[in-house]
Order: sequence, then structure tokens, then C-alpha cells
Amino acid sequence: MEGSAGTLLSLLLRLLLTSSPGAPDHSPGLVARITDKGLEYVAKEGLVGLQRKLHGIALPDFTGDFRISHLGRVRYEFHSLDISSCELLGSALTPLPGQGLSLAISDSSIGVHGKWKVRKSFVKLDGSFDVWVKDITTSVNLLLGSEPSGRPTVTVSSCSSHISDVEVDVSGDLGWLLNLFHSQIESRFQEVLESKICEKIQNSVTSDLQPYLQTLPVTTEMDSLASIDYSLMQAPRVTDQVLDVMFKGEIFNHNHRSPVPFGAPVMSLPEECNRMVYFAISDYVFNTASLVYQEAGYLNFSITDDMIPPESPIRLTTKSFRPFIPRLAKLYPNMNLELQGAVVPAPFLNFSPGNLSLAPQMEIEAFVVLPSSIREPVFRLGLATNVSAVLTFNTTKITGFLKPGKVHMELKESKVGVFNVEVLEALLNVHILNTLYPKVNDKLAKGLPLPLLKHIRLYDLVLQIHKDFLFLGANVQYTKV
Ligand SMILES: *[C@@H]1O[C@H](CO)[C@@H](O)[C@H](O)[C@H]1NC(C)=O
Ligand SMILES: *[C@@H]1O[C@H](CO)[C@@H](O)[C@H](O)[C@H]1NC(C)=O
Ligand SMILES: *[C@@H]1O[C@H](CO)[C@@H](O)[C@H](O)[C@H]1NC(C)=O
Ligand SMILES: *[C@@H]1O[C@H](CO)[C@@H](O)[C@H](O)[C@H]1NC(C)=O
Repeated sequence: MEGSAGTLLSLLLRLLLTSSPGAPDHSPGLVARITDKGLEYVAKEGLVGLQRKLHGIALPDFTGDFRISHLGRVRYEFHSLDISSCELLGSALTPLPGQGLSLAISDSSIGVHGKWKVRKSFVKLDGSFDVWVKDITTSVNLLLGSEPSGRPTVTVSSCSSHISDVEVDVSGDLGWLLNLFHSQIESRFQEVLESKICEKIQNSVTSDLQPYLQTLPVTTEMDSLASIDYSLMQAPRVTDQVLDVMFKGEIFNHNHRSPVPFGAPVMSLPEECNRMVYFAISDYVFNTASLVYQEAGYLNFSITDDMIPPESPIRLTTKSFRPFIPRLAKLYPNMNLELQGAVVPAPFLNFSPGNLSLAPQMEIEAFVVLPSSIREPVFRLGLATNVSAVLTFNTTKITGFLKPGKVHMELKESKVGVFNVEVLEALLNVHILNTLYPKVNDKLAKGLPLPLLKHIRLYDLVLQIHKDFLFLGANVQYTKV
């Protein structure tokens, strides 16, 4: 059977994965993949912030002595240095396989405005100057990791900045001052600026990028019952082309979390790269949700006569059942019936290429409500149906709804003889359509939030349904105003 071959394969893969040190002991429920297009966007957006940051570089004063012909030694001071402009034009963020990302900033220039002062005994001269620092190239390696809490981390593992051209413009025609700058200050200035750029970048990664990455919702409360665990299972994985982030993707009852009796499937992601980001969302995410709601009794229901619409030709009374269950009416004359139903086991979402479906099974037990209010079981029914699921997407979440299918019912056990279940099937069908489906669809409409950083919106969504997982591609927009 295809199923057992699949199980064997996933078992083998799991064994292989667990035997390699450091690897988590089961597969992620959700994988977010950032493509080179995504990295390009991040580099572009990041540059804006970095440019602002470099504007804030504080440069030290440069002082010293200098020999000028005729005058002899003079004391000089270049002070009040301010960054007057900062332009970063080119940036590229590329994968560093096995480590993280490499950020290269090129085509950058910085303008500095400052004042100079020269003193020789009673003689004092001063003025202002501008420096244009051009052709700055900076290369930064970023190391990606994850904290034990499951949050992503980023650190700078190396940074180097190189300035290849400095131009000075001094007010007035003071050739000796230019010489002073070139011989005494230029290289120091260059050195200071190079190290300040890396210092600012380091600082920006620690105080802006890392906190931003940690806006990733590690656990998100979905409602009063369920939360979703989006903790990282390991450090983001970087290959030649992509950056993969492996999330647990498990929905749990936040009032009491219990271990999940099944694992996530091993997903083999298609090699798509038209979008900035892809999410592979395995059936594990949906099935852990199903388990939580089913175990909490969310899918349990009971039907009593007062819930039956007045126009219904059949009522939940033994009298009304007389024509098709005569023994029921005879044994329990003029009594009410109550049906208690439960979806057992928790229904799992079936993924097949292009289709999503469920085959929930229900157990329904019928009770006679005795005059003492004691409920006496009289028969049990089994109900099966095929339901198709339709998923839709929103800017930050997956929503969906169920399309009911035909129900099939059978009598499992009876203390009142065998009877035709058709009438009950119709009654139950109406009830399920009017209560259970809207209840579940209401939950599905609230949606499953995707693991997104703050201020991120998705657009240009594409969806594929693969065996065991949904594959959602999107472009990303950073929407901070
Ligand atoms: C739901 O119904 C099933 C079957 O009747 C029962 O075993 C289970 O305890 C119920 N769950 C809750 C939370 O009431
Ligand atoms: C998807 O399900 C529908 C309805 O059940 C069916 O008609 C269709 O053939 C299925 N498509 C695939 C690709 O299996
Ligand atoms: C559900 O679908 C399966 C497979 O197509 C079929 O064997 C089964 O009879 C269907 N059940 C119902 C209740 O329609
Ligand atoms: C997305 O879903 C949220 C919550 O259900 C809703 O408020 C919002 O209008 C939806 N946005 C779009 C674009 O459909």
C-alpha cells in the first residue's frame, strides 16, 4: 500500500534526522522560505534605516601640531564635525550557506561639514570645511540563530568598511590648509569613519534588527481555548539560494497543553522562486487544531425537541417515532428523546494535489428522557460524511470554510429493534448544517495567523496544495508608516 510505504519513508527520514547531532527530533509543522527576491527586498528596506542610522555618526575632533613654512609650528583643530549627507545607493543581501547572510553596501557616500581653527602665538585663523567621502564599500556578515525560547537571533560576525576616495573643500583659498588635511588628517579621518560605520551597523543590528526579528509571534493566542506555537525549531537554515525558517507550527490547548500523538510530515518544498516568501504549512498545523477542539468537546452537540423547528414533520418524541420505531413508543410512551453527538476521532484534513477534504465520522447516541429526568440510552448511530474545505487568504492569515457533503448514516446498536434511519438522517443533516457547520466555519473565518514579523503584509498570493502541505507564495510589504 502507498500509505505504508510513505510511513516507512518518513520513519527512515526521521531516524536519519534524529541521528544527526543538533537536529530537532521531529519535522517542522511550518516552514517559511525567503527567496533571493525576498532578500533583495529586505536589503532595500534595510538600507533606508541604515542610512538614517549613519546620519547619526558622531565624529571626534582632530587636533595636533603642523609645520608651515615661514610660520613654523602651528596648532590646529578640526572640530564640530557633522554628517551633512549620507547616501547609500547599492545593497545586496546574499546567503552565506550554513551561517547566515552577507550584506554588501556599495555606491555609498557621506558628506561631512566641520570647522577648522589654526593658532600660532597671537595669530588665529578659522573657517569651515566640507569633506566628501565617496566610494564607500561595506561588507557585513550576519549570523542567524535561535534562542531556547524559539525566537530568532542575529549577530554581526564580521564587518569591514573601506573608503577609497576623500575630497576636501575648504572655504577660502588656503592651499596649506588642504595640505594639512591631506598629510595629517585624511588617513585618520578615513580610519575613524570606517570604524564608525561598522560600529553603527553593529549597533543597529543589536538595537534595531534583533528586537525587530523578535517581534515574531512565538506563541499567538487564537481564542479562549487554542494558541499556536510558532517557535523556531532550530537556527534558520541558509543554502545557496534560500533562507528557510523552521517553525513548530503546533496548535495547543493553552489551558492544558498535552503532547501530540502524531508528528509533522517531512515536506519537500517545490523549487519556486517567483515570490519573495513561501510558506509550507503542513497538515500537522490543521490536525493539531482539530485535535484541540475535538478533545475540548467543541464538536460535541446535543439535540433536544425544543431545538427542532416547529414546522418539522418529525419531533424528538417517542410518539413521533411510532411509525418507524414502534417498540420505542410502546416501551417509553409520551417521552422526549435527546440525541448526543460527537465527532470521533478528531477529523484530519486530507491534502491531495489541488484538493482539501475531510471525512469526519460522528457517533450519535439517542436517549429517552425518563420522567425522573434520567436519560436511558436506546440506540446508537454512526454518521459519515465527506466535506471539502476551501481556503482563502488574507493579508496576514489563512481563512477557510467547509462545504458540506452528503451524509451517510447507519444504525450501530439498538435496544428497540432495527429500523430505517432515513428520517433521522434528514433531521440530523438539517441540524448539522444549521449548527455545527456555521460554528466550525465561524472559527475558520477567524483564520490561522501566519508567523509574520510586525508591520509585514502579504500580497500577490499564490497557493498550491501538495500531498501533506499547503504551499503559499507571496510578496511582502513592510507597512510601517
Ligand atoms: C464529547 O462527547 C464524547 C462522546 O459522547 C465524550 O466521550 C466526551 O467526553 C465529550 N467531550 C466533552 C469535553 O464533553
Ligand atoms: C477535487 O475534488 C472535487 C470534488 O470532490 C473533484 O471533483 C475533483 O476531481 C478533485 N480534484 C482533484 C485534482 O483531485
Ligand atoms: C467519502 O469518499 C470516499 C472516497 O471517495 C467514499 O469511499 C465514501 O463512500 C464517501 N463517503 C460518503 C459518506 O459519501
Ligand atoms: C482579513 O481578515 C480580517 C479578519 O478576519 C478582516 O478584518 C479583514 O478585513 C480581512 N482583510 C482582507 C483584505 O480581506
